[in-house]
This record gives sequence, structure tokens and C-alpha cells, in this order.
Amino acid sequence: MAITKQTILITGAGGWLGSMLAGTIAAREPNVQFSFILCDIVEPKAPKGVNNAQFVCLKADLSEPSSLDAIFSTPLGKPDVAYLMHGIMSLGSEENWDLGMKINMDSVRSVLEKARHSRNEAGEAIRVVFTSSVASYGGDLPDVVTTETACFPEGAYGCGKLIGEYLVTEYTRRGFVNGISVKLPTIVPRPGAPSRATSAFVSGIVREPLNGQEAICPVGSSASDPVLNDVGVWVAKPSTTLTNLAMAKDIVADPLLSKKMLRWTRSVMLPGFTVNISQIIEALRNVRGDQAVDLIKFEHDETCARIVKSWPRAFETKYPLSLGFKIDEDGFEGAIKEYMASYA
Ligand SMILES: NC(=O)c1ccc[n+]([C@@H]2O[C@H](COP(=O)([O-])OP(=O)(O)OC[C@H]3O[C@@H](n4cnc5c(N)ncnc54)[C@H](O)[C@@H]3O)[C@@H](O)[C@H]2O)c1
Repeated sequence: MAITKQTILITGAGGWLGSMLAGTIAAREPNVQFSFILCDIVEPKAPKGVNNAQFVCLKADLSEPSSLDAIFSTPLGKPDVAYLMHGIMSLGSEENWDLGMKINMDSVRSVLEKARHSRNEAGEAIRVVFTSSVASYGGDLPDVVTTETACFPEGAYGCGKLIGEYLVTEYTRRGFVNGISVKLPTIVPRPGAPSRATSAFVSGIVREPLNGQEAICPVGSSASDPVLNDVGVWVAKPSTTLTNLAMAKDIVADPLLSKKMLRWTRSVMLPGFTVNISQIIEALRNVRGDQAVDLIKFEHDETCARIVKSWPRAFETKYPLSLGFKIDEDGFEGAIKEYMASYA
């Protein structure tokens, strides 16, 4: 039976992707009456121009039990779907280890517990979509990572995300929730101020020059340094990622039991593409010329370079594409053009 009404909780709804997700979901399914419970430690705003949906916006610190109670007892009722997108990004988790673990691990378990005992208005297990990251991988990796590749994170952020993925799989196995974890590529270019993510420079070396400002590249010594060819990043455009996130709530469990991997893990790497730092710089040159590239300054940062080099650079996409997820077709220049159309 087609869904006509759905209540969706989004944690981290004041963040970059979280703030755009409700609008993407409502636009993809105009015939569904959506109710959104948006929460963040900073009070989130209802997106403008989304007329076919109701919103409750809550300031909620998800490490506090009272906040957890509040998000599951709004006038909009129990959520059918919960997107767990709040978190402390990679550099932030490395610099404040205790906070990273408290939010990326402990509070994810707390929300899952609350979802387990809440269930939706029909008494069914809540559909959980948890956002994880390529940072859950590390160690000696094959050239192309597959869903079977073991995860050995090399930082607090990746460790917290991987534990979150295990929890989603385990809570699903027991029927407490109906979960899926989507590992996101690095989403680029990110607008605004640099985030506390180690990968923030990947956006910065494009965004700042597009805005006529200098940017720091923490790897290499110049735009022609061959070392830039060796630093590859698995990336995706925001619009493709938001579409994939919006779709993730409907990748339902039972038909997928025939898909081998979802029997053992509820984690899926979303499709992306590999780009190295030289290619990013050349894409910027193609779109905005030498002047923009000259604004990139090189200051080697050992911690940042070490973490970025530990991340996998290529994933097989056959499995996520078989589930229906989308892939970028227009490379890094497409990502730059999308940013310029929205922000520059
Ligand atoms: N953007 C990317 O490139 C990328 C890549 C991989 C994974 N992800 C994951 O996707 C999700 C969204 O990413 P984003 O870029 O929008 O992140 P973001 O940093 O912009 O948003 C995260 C939000 O979590 C909120 N938050 C932090 N602590 C909280 C707490 N105690 N209680 C409630 N809210 C709290 C923050 O206020 C922030 O608004 C995150 O889980 C992130 O780890 C993002």
C-alpha cells in the first residue's frame, strides 16, 4: 500500500546535510503528507518553501536523557523514520576524544534505545538511517574497497561511526529497529566556514578561491607537487547524496534478505567517485582559471595528511547501485558547477 503520511525525525538537522534533507524528501514525494521532527543542539530551522509538510523544531542535546524524551514525545507523535545525522566531525573528535565518543557513540546508542522502546504509532519497529563515513576504514586497504573489506578505523571519529554501524545491525537483528547505515563519501564542495572534518580542505581549496579568498592545502608543497597525485579522496556531490539519503529510508529490509550483504551487515557505502588533489586543482583551473588556483597556499600538516592518507580512495559501487542508489555522472567539475549555481 502506498504511504500517504509519514513522520520523520532528523537529528543533526541544524547541520549542513541535515538542514537540506527534509526539503529533499518532501520534494521527491509530493503526494505524501510529511511531518518532520527536526532537532539539533542548536535549534534548527524549518526549511523555507516546503509547504506540504509540518515541522517541529527542537533544541536538543542528545547526550541528555530529557532531550531524548522530548524528541520522541512531540505533538507530531512517534516517528516512522529516524535519521541519525548528529555528530562531532573528525578533527573535533580527535581533539576532544571524550566529546567525540560521547556523541558519536554513546548518544547513538541512547537514540537507538529510545527508538527500540518507542516504536512508531502503528507499533512497528522504527526505520533508522544512520550516517557513517569512509573514516570507518583504515589500515592496509585493497585498491578497491568492497562491502566485505574489514574496517580498521585509525581515528576516534571512524571508531565511533563503526560502533554506530554495529549497533544499527545488532538492533535490527533483534527487531528493535529496522535500520540501515549509509557510509557517506566526502561531500564536496561544502559551503560556509570550514567544518571540523579532516577532509574540510578538499572543499576549502575550491570554495575559498571561488570566493576570491586564499585557501590552505595541508598536503604537498605546490600545485604541481607529484605527491598530490597520491592523495585520493572518495567524494560525491551534495545533491546526489541528499537523493541517496532520501531513498535510504525506503530500502526496506525483507526483499533485501536475498541480497547477500544485508544478511550480515546493514552498512552500505554510498556511491561516489575517486578524485586526487591534482585533479581537484585542475578542475578548478578549468572552471575558474589560473587566478583561482594561485589562491591555494600549501602548508603541510602531518596529522591531517596522515589521517587523509589512511582513508580508502575507491569503493566498488555495484552493490549500492544494485540497491537503487545513485552515482554522480559529471565528475569534480560537476560538483564545482553545482556549488557555483547555489552559492557563488
Ligand atoms: N559532510 C560530509 O562530507 C560527511 C561525510 C561522511 C559522513 N558524514 C556524516 O553525515 C552526517 C551529517 O554531516 P554534516 O556534514 O551535515 O555534519 P554537520 O557537522 O554539519 O552537522 C552535524 C550536526 O550535529 C549536531 N550535534 C552535535 N552534537 C550534538 C548533540 N549533542 N546533540 C544534538 N545535535 C548535535 C551539530 O550541532 C551539527 O549541526 C554526520 O553524521 C556526518 O558524520 C558527513
